[in-house]
Amino acid sequence: MIERYDRGDYTISTDPDRLDVCAVHRYLSASYWADGFPFALVERSLRHSLSFGLYASEGQVGLARVITDETTFAYLCDVYVLPEHRGRGLGRWMIECVMGSPRLRGLRRWLLVTRNAQGLYQPMGSGPLSNPAGVMEIVRPDIYRTGEPRDRPETGSDG
Ligand SMILES: CC(C)(COP(=O)(O)OP(=O)(O)OC[C@H]1O[C@@H](n2cnc3c(N)ncnc32)[C@H](O)[C@@H]1OP(=O)(O)O)[C@@H](O)C(=O)NCCC(=O)NCCS
Repeated sequence: MIERYDRGDYTISTDPDRLDVCAVHRYLSASYWADGFPFALVERSLRHSLSFGLYASEGQVGLARVITDETTFAYLCDVYVLPEHRGRGLGRWMIECVMGSPRLRGLRRWLLVTRNAQGLYQPMGSGPLSNPAGVMEIVRPDIYRTGEPRDRPETGSDG
């Protein structure tokens, strides 16, 4: 089921065929959280996610990507609005569409990570981890630049 929401000159759509992978890659590969994200991985991540694209007359101008089983859990990531379209409520509208999506109703847990955009998510009921000590993570901030160790050429037996 493809969702579509319209507001003035803007549209939000979950149609995967409408996503402009080049535009998404251009933004994400220069962002602070996905710096260097290779094109092929952007394409793959979109293919396996529920993505809410934001569109204006000139094309795609924003994104909110949801990694989810559509049953119990969702991780909201890669949220952006291009600079020239910010400050018009579009970011909040995207989050409202995500949270109101029929495919994402009744989930037990949502997770999102942000450096400084807490103000965008707080009205949706999000807050700091209730039990930080019980949440563990594996983080590889440089992985898009360095790749998995197995992808790198051999450097010798002691490398
Ligand atoms: C964050 C972002 C998506 C917001 O888009 P936007 O369309 O300008 O947002 P809105 O106009 O809907 O603003 C909604 C609220 O979000 C908050 N907000 C917006 N941008 C913010 C930012 N950079 N930092 C903190 N809060 C922000 C504000 O509280 C704002 O509320 P207000 O109306 O009371 O001022 C946009 O600034 C962006 O793309 N930033 C760069 C990418 C980024 O940081 N993404 C978030 C990663 S978690």
